[in-house]
Amino acid sequence: KPYIVILAGGVGSRFWPYSRRKKPKQFLDILGTGRTLLQMTYDRYREMADPEQFVVVTYKKYQNLVKKQLPELKDEQVLVEPMRKNTAVCMAYACFHIHSKDPDSTLVVTPSDHLILQESKYIKTIQRAVSVAEREGKLLTIGVKPTRAETNYGYIQYLEKPKAHAFKVKTFTEKPNAKLAKTFLESGDFAWNSGMFVWKSKTLIRELHEHLPDLAEIFEEGKGVYGTAGEEAFVRRAYSQVKNISFDIGIMEKTNEMYILLGEFGWSDLGSWANLHELKEKDEHNNVVEANAILYDTSNSYVKVKGEKLVVVQGLDHYLINESENVLLICKIDSEKRFREFVSNAKKKG
Ligand code: GDD
Ligand code: MG
Repeated sequence: KPYIVILAGGVGSRFWPYSRRKKPKQFLDILGTGRTLLQMTYDRYREMADPEQFVVVTYKKYQNLVKKQLPELKDEQVLVEPMRKNTAVCMAYACFHIHSKDPDSTLVVTPSDHLILQESKYIKTIQRAVSVAEREGKLLTIGVKPTRAETNYGYIQYLEKPKAHAFKVKTFTEKPNAKLAKTFLESGDFAWNSGMFVWKSKTLIRELHEHLPDLAEIFEEGKGVYGTAGEEAFVRRAYSQVKNISFDIGIMEKTNEMYILLGEFGWSDLGSWANLHELKEKDEHNNVVEANAILYDTSNSYVKVKGEKLVVVQGLDHYLINESENVLLICKIDSEKRFREFVSNAKKKG
């Protein structure tokens, strides 16, 4: 039985000000379903896994949010990171932790903030990946056929082989610029990296030793400590030593041992306001309105304002208006590349 490892420690800054440092998007009911994105991720996997198979890796400030939102999990199923060191580090931690008590384990690694429309097709794809990873000892990523020149995803070029269960990854490019993304899309040889992975813990550990040896050695030293009272202190020390690196840059762009399994299940990373706009129900001028609002000559926009405040808008095209707590943001809806700047300058302003 595979472990389902949910990564839930990101900040979601491209959804600011709705998504906040103290409560990022994975902990919000972004789609208005009554369940948060984290809970939806959990629910989806419950079709193939029991509660005890889950492990959530998160940043220490979100530990209580995770426990509150997933009360079925025991304390030891929530791995707490003392610092944020990006995805290669959180995956390595989870992998070494699980491996130490179960050296023959298989891990399904999933982000906590994606939307999947066809859940049973999705689960079938994951189950297929689990059996390939177990039988053939491969590192697998789940790939999705691209539909636009999106620059927020990683692109995988693969070698198609008839009858193979999974195709060998030839090249990987994380978040290409617009021109390159367009070339990739048009060539037809590429898939998007969905950010979901399946592998045996021992296979990943081998790759970590090969491509991120410093990181691997630091976590290797925790053998015998994982799962004991000493884990917290060990992890604090380990995190202060390791460098911040994403899995995409640290492993995906380097390894020669990655395979891709293509799936089609109505996938989307709810990465930005523009992504969410695409998915939500719209009025006749292609606006998403989640506010008490009157719109004139306005199109392709997203207006989200909580409460009864009347919002009157005129003459906007492709704009976002979001008021959340003490911030009102008005910007171009596709300005996600500037959100880091927005957030850090807003912080300075207080
Ligand atoms: N625990 C923990 N700690 N989780 C983290 C951390 C961390 O330091 N950093 C990010 N995460 C979580 C996020 O909450 C999210 O669920 C997941 O890891 C992926 O991180 P993102 O920050 O959302 O990555 P991305 O969307 O920019 O890019 C990745 O996903 C794309 C598909 O959605 C890459 O893998 C791309 O190649 C891929 O196309
Ligand atoms: Mg993402």
